[in-house]
Parts: sequence; C-alpha cells; structure tokens
Amino acid sequence: MPAPQAPVSVSGAVARRRSVRAFLDRPVSRATVEDILRRAARAPSGGNLQPWVVRVVDGAEIAALKALMRRQVAGMPDGEPPVPAFCPDALKPPYLARRRRNGEILYGALGIDRDDAEARRAWIAGNFQFFGAPVGVMLFAERQSTPYQWVDIGIYLQTVLLLLCEAGLDSCPQADWAMYEATVKQALGAPPDLTLVCGIAIGYADPDSPGNAVRTERDDPLAAYAIR
Ligand SMILES: Cc1cc2nc3c(=O)[nH]c(=O)nc-3n(C[C@H](O)[C@H](O)[C@H](O)COP(=O)(O)O)c2cc1C
Repeated sequence: MPAPQAPVSVSGAVARRRSVRAFLDRPVSRATVEDILRRAARAPSGGNLQPWVVRVVDGAEIAALKALMRRQVAGMPDGEPPVPAFCPDALKPPYLARRRRNGEILYGALGIDRDDAEARRAWIAGNFQFFGAPVGVMLFAERQSTPYQWVDIGIYLQTVLLLLCEAGLDSCPQADWAMYEATVKQALGAPPDLTLVCGIAIGYADPDSPGNAVRTERDDPLAAYAIR
C-alpha cells in the first residue's frame, strides 16, 4: 500500500491535478468514486438544474467496453459519424499555437514524431481503453441542453477532478469518447435523450510513463484581451 497522502487544500488540488494517460494495474474502490460523484454535485448550476448525468463503469463491464472499443476503433479509427467538432476547424490565434504547443510537449515526452500519423493514431486509440485505468465515468448532458447547462457540467467535471485529486486518485477527462457516442450509449443502455459529453479515466498514475511527467503550460487569462 502506498503511504497516505497529506491532506490537500483547494489551492493544492488545483495546482496538483493534471491529466494522466497511463495508469497502474491497481484497483480503485467503486464506492470511493461514487462518493466523489455525489459530493461533486455541490457544484453550482444555473437554476440549480444540476444537469449532469453520470455512469460509473468498472469490473467486468469496463473490460467488455474496452474489448468492444478495440474492435470499433480498429474498424472506424476516425470515429462514428457524425463525429462532434471539439473546437472550431480554423482555430484563431492564440488557440492554434496553444494546441500545437500542447501536442509538442506531450508527443515530445512520448517520443512520437509529429509526422508519424500511425504512432499518433495508436496513442489516441488508448483513449478508448481509458488509458489502462480500472474505472471510467461517462458524463452525459440532456440533448436539449443550452450552453449554460454545458457550463454547469464543466464546473461539475472540475469538481470531480479536484475531489479525485484530494482522494489521491489520478484522472483524465476525455472528450474523445464522444467520437463513439452511439457505441458507448448502446453498450451502457443509455437513454436516447442523453448526449455524451466526455469520459473520465480514473486510477493511479503509472510513474514510469513519460507522458505522465508532462506539465502543461498556461497563459495569463488577464492578458487574454491584449493577446487576441
Ligand atoms: C472537457 C475536456 C476534454 C478532454 N478530452 C481529452 C481527451 O479526449 N483525450 C486526452 O488525452 N485528453 C483530454 N483532455 C485533457 C486536456 O488535454 C488537458 O486538460 C490539457 O492538455 C491541460 O493539461 P492538464 O489537464 O494536465 O492540466 C480533456 C480535457 C477536458 C477539460
């Protein structure tokens, strides 16, 4: 068993949380994850709609989903149409530069060449194995949601990530799961009026994975007016 961690402040969790993309083969208590998902619902939401819908996947179910996704991704590597747009096609400055820099940092750490499409594709496919995490969460929105409910769901997501951090758990939010919304929804028996926002991979970081050593950069949000 690892040594218990010192209690983490909100500031500590905000600073320490990062996206982890390789996990140890070490079990995670479903009860702990469920407790965090419930406590995160103290997050604010417009009109207190609490428009987040979550589904935990672990054990035999996550094993079956990973096996199914291996087949799906092999057959349709670019996702199932209609693949949602994660951001505008033509990203304006400074967003394009930030996205490129993020890729450079991560792929650089992993030793994946910028032009090696095959290696990149194989790496991205790891998303659909929850990067080896033993527990996953699927986060849904109502299809009829407006952007404000998506704001609420984003706040809920970050609250979940921070509580996971406080509990000594690592995570990665994964919008890429929405590329296979139909398969995920069918596999989990999700109602038709829900739309898949993202998955969350949950587990313990593999300290030997070079990708997990990455520390992403941030620009000063107060300077945002000036630099756009
Ligand atoms: C809503 C959302 C969706 C994301 N989707 C993915 C994803 O599909 N795959 C992935 O590897 N990372 C994904 N990320 C992680 C981001 O790449 C990451 O948060 C960003 O690069 C900043 O790094 P950090 O989380 O380590 O601070 C997502 C993050 C958010 C907030």
